[in-house]
Amino acid sequence: MANLVTSLCCVVLAAVVVAYAQRRSQLVARNQYERMGSDVTMQCGSLDNDASVSWKVNGTDVKAQHRLEGPRLVLNEVDLGHNGLYSCFQNPHGERRDTIYLHIGIPPRDPTVTCRSNTYPKGFYCSWHQLHPTYIPTTFEVDVQHNQRSLEVQKDPDHKNRCRVRFPEVFSSYPYKVNVTAVNALGKASTTISFEESSIVKPDPPERVTATPIRFNARRLEVSWQSPATWPDIDNFPLKYFLRYRPLIREQWQHVELSDSTSHTITDAYAGKEYIIQVAAKDTEIGTWSDWSVAVHATPWIEDPLPITSTTEVDFPTETKTSPIPSSNAPQKAEPPVGRAARLLTFFSPLLLGMLLLFM
Ligand SMILES: *[C@@H]1O[C@H](CO)[C@@H](O)[C@H](O)[C@H]1NC(C)=O
Ligand SMILES: *[C@@H]1O[C@H](CO)[C@@H](O)[C@H](O)[C@H]1NC(C)=O
Repeated sequence: MANLVTSLCCVVLAAVVVAYAQRRSQLVARNQYERMGSDVTMQCGSLDNDASVSWKVNGTDVKAQHRLEGPRLVLNEVDLGHNGLYSCFQNPHGERRDTIYLHIGIPPRDPTVTCRSNTYPKGFYCSWHQLHPTYIPTTFEVDVQHNQRSLEVQKDPDHKNRCRVRFPEVFSSYPYKVNVTAVNALGKASTTISFEESSIVKPDPPERVTATPIRFNARRLEVSWQSPATWPDIDNFPLKYFLRYRPLIREQWQHVELSDSTSHTITDAYAGKEYIIQVAAKDTEIGTWSDWSVAVHATPWIEDPLPITSTTEVDFPTETKTSPIPSSNAPQKAEPPVGRAARLLTFFSPLLLGMLLLFM
C-alpha cells in the first residue's frame, strides 16, 4: 500500500516537472545568433507549417520589414537595430509559444597576437586583440607548441586577453608556435605566430630613477635607478642600460650606454637648466630594449642667486633649487620668461612703487 502511494506520488511529481519544464521552455528566452546583413528566419517553437502566429519584439509589434510564413518570422538584411527579445503567440487564443533573443553580430577575424618575455628565463606571455568588433561574445583558445610538445598555458589573472607560458628549457633553439583562435557563435578564425626564444626578450623599464644635483657643481647630475623588479635573475642574466637626457628647452637627446651599472653622472649639463632624464634596459646578449622609464626632472646645483641685471632672463632663487622631481611631472617646456618677469615684478612692486613715488 505504502509502495503504491509512493509510486503514485512519483508519477504525479514527474508530470508536474515535465509540465513545468515545457512551460518554462516557452517562457525562457533562447538565443539565436545571426550574421549582420543576412536574412533571418525565426521559428516559433515546434509548431506545424500551417500554424498561425503573431510576433512581438520587446513587447511591441514588429516594425522592421518582415514576412510571415506560418510559424516563421523572416527579417531582411538584419543589422544591430534588429537585436531584441522576440515572442510568438499562437492564434486564435494568443498563447505564447516561444521567446527568442536575437543577437546580430559578425564572425571573428584573425586576432592580432604578440608575445614577449619580460621575465626571462622564467617564461613569456602572449596577448591578443581583435581589430574589429563582433558585437557578440567572443572567446579565445590558445595553443602553444614547442619541439612537438603542447605547453601548459595559464590565463593571466590581471589582464584580459593575455596568457602566460613557462619556458620548458633555456637556450632552446626550437621555435615556439603560438596559435590563438577567436571563436563565437558565428564562426572562428586563428592566427599562428612562430618565434625563437631570444627574439621576444624585452625587459620592463628600469625603476625608481632619480636624478640629483651635486653640490658646488653647476654642470653635473647624479642619476641612479634599479633594475626592473620583474626581471627574475639579474646575477645570471645581467642587463645593460641606455640613458637619455636633455634640457627641457631643447629637442635633442643625448645618449649614454652603460653595461652593468645602475648609476651615471652627467657631467655636461647646462648650468641652471632643468633636465628631463629617462633610462631603458636590455638583456646584455639577446632581445630588444625596454620602453623608456617614467621621465624624471632635475636641475644642476646653482650657485648664489645671480644679481638682477635684466627682468627677462633671471632665474629666481626659490625656483632653481628644486628637488629632483618638480611639482609638475608632465613633460613641458620651460616656463616662458614673461611669467618669471611678472613674478619678479610682483615681488618688487613695493620697491617699484617707492621709486615711482620718488620720481613724482
Ligand atoms: C529591444 O530592446 C533592446 C534593449 O533595450 C534594444 O537594444 C533593441 O534595439 C530593441 N529592439 C527593437 C527591435 O526595438
Ligand atoms: C590553430 O588552432 C585551431 C583551433 O584549434 C585549428 O583549427 C587550426 O588548424 C590551428 N592552426 C594551426 C596553423 O595550427
